[in-house]
Amino acid sequence: AAKTGGPQANTGPLLQRVGGSDVVKHVVELFYRHLYADPHLIKFLHDQEMVHLRAKQSAFISWLFGPPGTPYTGKSVRIAHLRIIKQRGFSPEDFDLGMKYFADAMRELEAPEIIIGEVMRRITPYKDAIFTPSAGDAAEEA
Ligand code: HEM
Repeated sequence: AAKTGGPQANTGPLLQRVGGSDVVKHVVELFYRHLYADPHLIKFLHDQEMVHLRAKQSAFISWLFGPPGTPYTGKSVRIAHLRIIKQRGFSPEDFDLGMKYFADAMRELEAPEIIIGEVMRRITPYKDAIFTPSAGDAAEEA
């Protein structure tokens, strides 16, 4: 399996620092395996094919490991999760669990803690974005 990081892995683009796109692919694969194996989270996922969900999130993952200072221009994460929030009670605690699985996946691939910390700091603001009602909600629900 591809290895991550290295002794001086503390500057430059996250994608390189984590070990390149093979490592990212591995992380994402492990992340989804954890998500779908969780007996609580499966109620939000049972009607989503894992490969389709992964494809939908790929723009976000590219952004996540991409150059710092670049805004994410993909679909609203609020809108992406609105149905499971409204219809199945998807909560901030559920999202925390998902983020934990993402960090676990990086840890399992031996990513340096400093990089795991940076990646998680990039993901965390989306928790507020997902759970804060927005002007677009009504249109989406209609
Ligand atoms: C899309 C559930 C965690 C980011 C989706 C969709 C579902 C879902 C059902 C597909 C919506 C559709 O039909 O289009 C979940 C569940 C999670 C979780 C159950 C467990 C905690 C996360 C995390 C992130 C995230 C940690 C990181 C920010 C996204 C993105 C999309 C998405 C970017 C796709 C948006 C697009 O279509 O471009 N998620 N999600 N999700 N999720 Fe999650």
